Amino acid sequence: MSEKPWSGRFSHDTHPEVEAFTSSVGVDARLFREDIEGSVAHARMLLCMGLLTSGEASAIIEGLQAIGEDIVSGAFRFDPKLEDVHMNIEAELTKRIGDAGKKLHTARSRNDQVATDLRLFVRANLAQVAKDLRALMGVLIAKAQENVDTIIPGMTHLQHAQPVSFAHHLLAYFEMMLRDHERLTQAVHRLNVSPLGSAALAGTPHPVDRAMTARELGFTAPGRNSIDAVSDRDFAIEAVFVCGVIMMHLSRLAEEIIIWNSQPFSFVDLPDAYCTGSSIMPQKKNPDVAELVRGKVGGVYGHLVSLLTVMKGLPLAYNRDMQEDKRPVFESIDTARACLQVMAGLVSGLTPNRESLGSSLEEGFIAATDIADYLAAKGMPFRQAHRITGEIVSHLAQGRRTFADLNLEELRAFSLLFEEDIFEAFEPATSVDRRTSYGGTSRTNVRAALGEAGAILEKLFHEK
Ligand code: ARG
Repeated sequence: MSEKPWSGRFSHDTHPEVEAFTSSVGVDARLFREDIEGSVAHARMLLCMGLLTSGEASAIIEGLQAIGEDIVSGAFRFDPKLEDVHMNIEAELTKRIGDAGKKLHTARSRNDQVATDLRLFVRANLAQVAKDLRALMGVLIAKAQENVDTIIPGMTHLQHAQPVSFAHHLLAYFEMMLRDHERLTQAVHRLNVSPLGSAALAGTPHPVDRAMTARELGFTAPGRNSIDAVSDRDFAIEAVFVCGVIMMHLSRLAEEIIIWNSQPFSFVDLPDAYCTGSSIMPQKKNPDVAELVRGKVGGVYGHLVSLLTVMKGLPLAYNRDMQEDKRPVFESIDTARACLQVMAGLVSGLTPNRESLGSSLEEGFIAATDIADYLAAKGMPFRQAHRITGEIVSHLAQGRRTFADLNLEELRAFSLLFEEDIFEAFEPATSVDRRTSYGGTSRTNVRAALGEAGAILEKLFHEK
């Protein structure tokens, strides 16, 4: 009969089909570093508590480190029959160092082991997501800096609304990403509690020092409740959720880039290096990078729903269903990182097309609010000013004309409050600069906002 760590209770071999079905090492081998790190901390603690001799502890620690090196070099072969990364490493350790290896699992279960490993993994990897996010935030600031004076049609309902500085628009994404960064930090803060020493679910009769392993592994404290410590996967769900929100933000930006780059808009040109062509239509230069970012969101949302669903009906404490938690976490983090990185390149290489932007600003009666505001500033109640401006728009639209086609006489037929200075209100730059309310798009505001964004990002870099 094959040697499984739990074979004592069994009189028959596992069916090969079941071996294949229950094995997770194809996915969780990725936790090998964390598994070794957790085991080393556990071994040190066992030594301190007198549960291992120093000879045993050093054999275990050196053995684990050597296995880690072999995994990195590719010399180590994971065996699917040994189920998961934890049993693979432990079996190999015992093979290499003999009986001392069998003592490593004293006062430990795979339940607290896997929960510890996954927390360590998520903690390290969310830090990488945060790093990629900061890089993209830096790119947004740089692109905004170049484009304070680039005026674009601000939209609502994807219709011309009011002119805004392109920098102001880009800084809106900076704000979203700043909140994403905060969410990452908070998720790491909440997950940073050690399950190690909770054993299977109830704790252990061995004299363990849970505070010591928590400290060794950089956790803020041991988990207070052993049952919760082995069965909580909120932290994994939160990690996937934060990736989902990041992806949602990237997808909105991607969608805008696709629209801006489409022929009817032509607001921006994209760098060749970040576009792909068509196999049949020679003229094509497609925004595939942005489209793929938009498309990959679905996968991450799917992972979030799958993880929430895996957990929703599970009685406490550990259930094997929870083994399904890894792929959603790994893939969500990988996707978010890849998308953040590629979007940084895309945004950094995009150039606004000032000519198309200029002609677009002449369309869609984008100065309408400025005209209404002009009348209101001259004492007309805003509702009345709104109505009169609407009548002007309707009158022009019928004749397929724009504000630029109006003269003062024609305007005064609508209201005698119109004077020569109304023509300034038609200027997109004037419209932008008049919006001086805090957080508004005036270029003075935007320059100040850029300074502030730069300082905020600088601080985030320093905190790392
Ligand atoms: N591979 C398992 C997982 O990822 C490890 C824990 C197994 N525990 C158990 N009681 N079968 O969930």
